Amino acid sequence: MRLVVTGAAGQLGVDLVAVCRRHGDDVVALDRSGLDVADRSAVLGVMTTLRPDAIVNAAAWTAVDACEGDVDRAFQVNALGPRWLREAAELTGSHLVQISTDYVFDGTLDRPYREWDVPNPRSVYGASKLAGERESGPDATIVRTSWVCGANGNNMVKTILRLVEEQDSLSFVDDQRGCPTFTADLAPMVRQLAVERRSGVHHVTNQGDVSWYEFVREVVAETGRDPAMVRAVATADLQPPRPAPRPANSVLDNAALRLAGVPLLRHHREPLRELVAHLIG
Ligand SMILES: NC(=O)c1ccc[n+]([C@@H]2O[C@H](COP(=O)([O-])OP(=O)(O)OC[C@H]3O[C@@H](n4cnc5c(N)ncnc54)[C@H](OP(=O)(O)O)[C@@H]3O)[C@@H](O)[C@H]2O)c1
Repeated sequence: MRLVVTGAAGQLGVDLVAVCRRHGDDVVALDRSGLDVADRSAVLGVMTTLRPDAIVNAAAWTAVDACEGDVDRAFQVNALGPRWLREAAELTGSHLVQISTDYVFDGTLDRPYREWDVPNPRSVYGASKLAGERESGPDATIVRTSWVCGANGNNMVKTILRLVEEQDSLSFVDDQRGCPTFTADLAPMVRQLAVERRSGVHHVTNQGDVSWYEFVREVVAETGRDPAMVRAVATADLQPPRPAPRPANSVLDNAALRLAGVPLLRHHREPLRELVAHLIG
C-alpha cells in the first residue's frame, strides 16, 4: 500500500504518517515545502511520479479568522488544492481522501449534523472547505471532523495548558458545542477509510459533545487544578468579536460509519487524558 500524505507537518499529518508507518505502509510524507497543493503542475508531477494507491490531503489553510481577510488564498489552498489532487488521482488511479470540517454547516440545527444535512457555511474558511469537498469528486472519501487536538501543532488543549500556568481564571464560551477529536484516534480511522476506499462523506469525531466551557473544565481537571477557575461566557460577549463566525452547533453525528457497522471512535475523555499526560509528562 503506497500512500501520499500532503500537509504532512500539520497536526493530523504527523500522526497519520506515523500510523501508516506502524502499519508497514509505503508512506510518502509531503509537507508544504515538499508539495504546495495549490500548484497544479507540482501536484501532477509528484503524483504521476509516485503513482500512490491513495492520496490523503491533510493540507489546508486552517487559520479561520485570517481566511476572512484573504478569500483568494483560502480558496487557492482549500478548494483548488483538492481540484488538482482529484485530477492527479484520476490520472493515476489513486483514491483521494479529503479532510473537511464542521464549519461547512451554519450550526443552527437542533440536533447533531448527519452527512446528508445541507451545508451552509458562514465563514470564508467553511465556504472554501465546502468547495474543496465538491472539487474532490464523487469517488473521494470526505472526512469531516471537528475541534482537532493532537500532540503536534496548535490546539485548544495546548492553549489551556499554557493559560493555566499564566492566569488564575479563564473565560470560555458556553454556547458553542462540538465533539473534540484527537489525532491519535482520527488518524487510524482516516487510514482505514483510505485503505478500504470508502467513498462519500463520513463524519469522524470522538464521541461526547461539550461546549468549549465544558471542554476547558475537563482539560483543567486533567491537570489536577480546580475546574471552578473556568467561567462561562456567551459568544456575544466576546470582546473584540472574532472575525469569522463559529457554528453554535458543531456536533457531527458519525452516521455513515454507525449505519455501516464501523466501530466509532471512543469518548473524547480517554484520548484527552492520554494527550495531557503526554504533554505535561
Ligand atoms: N484544527 C481543527 O480544529 C480542525 C477542525 C476540523 C477540520 N480540520 C481539518 O483537518 C485537516 C487537518 O487540520 P490540522 O489541524 O492538522 O491543520 P494544521 O495543523 O494547520 O495542518 C495543515 C498543514 O497544511 C499545510 N499547508 C498549508 N497550505 C499548504 C499548501 N498550499 N500546500 C501544502 N500544505 C499546506 C500547513 O503548513 P504551514 O503550517 O506551513 O502553513 C500545515 O502543516 C484540515 O483539512 C482542516 O481543515 C481541522
